[in-house]
Amino acid sequence: MGKSTVISMAVVRRLPRYRRYLSELLENGVDRISSKELSERMNLTASQIRQDFNCFGDFGQQGYGYNVKELHNEIARIIGLNKSYKTVIVGAGNIGQAIANYSSFGKLGFNLVAIFDVNPKLIGLKFRDIDIRDVDDLDGFLEENKIDIGIICVPKAQAQRTADIFQDRGIKAIWNFAPIDLKTKEGVIIENVHLSDSLLTLSYRLNEAELFGNESE
Ligand code: NAI
Repeated sequence: MGKSTVISMAVVRRLPRYRRYLSELLENGVDRISSKELSERMNLTASQIRQDFNCFGDFGQQGYGYNVKELHNEIARIIGLNKSYKTVIVGAGNIGQAIANYSSFGKLGFNLVAIFDVNPKLIGLKFRDIDIRDVDDLDGFLEENKIDIGIICVPKAQAQRTADIFQDRGIKAIWNFAPIDLKTKEGVIIENVHLSDSLLTLSYRLNEAELFGNESE
């Protein structure tokens, strides 16, 4: 049903948010919505929404709006939520444990199958029924199990080594929480998550008025 054109990264970055809003609408029994209504809820312009949705199909109908279910399912399909993924976490500290304990990722189809750490005090413990294994067994585990996404939650100094093991064992997607730009092999995708970047952006915005507020005076 969707168009097979490549979607720009700017649109891709907005897709999860569209999916979230459309899921909420579905939960509330709303079966259609106009771009104007959606734009007011999402604080985007209606034309931006129409342009974005036009990238992947003809969902809108003049005078009818969008069929919420169709649009939701198509966006989920484009994001790849019609599949399921096997994931492993390396580093079972604060961040690794928080991710392991967050059950919603599983509901979206991201299934955590193993956690690895170097600390003997952690090895053998369980998170949501998943054992923390010795990181020395990572390579062998990846040789035997096809893993789609590797999650890096180790200190910065260990992150590249972890990424190398992932890549050497054929993992094509890495979710990286360590504050480092990882070197990747061709065809491997990295998505970095840096909470501190977001916090510093907030700090900038908090201080923006103080920095530039008087410029026009
Ligand atoms: P933590 O010290 O609580 O956990 C790190 C874990 O990695 C420990 O359990 C340690 O035993 C384990 N580890 C160390 N070397 C290892 C190796 N070679 N293989 C397997 N496990 C190993 O640290 P935290 O707070 O969980 O942070 C983890 C990473 O996430 C760090 O790189 C930190 O800088 C980063 N971080 C990222 C944030 C973000 O927004 N992306 C926010 C906070 C931390």
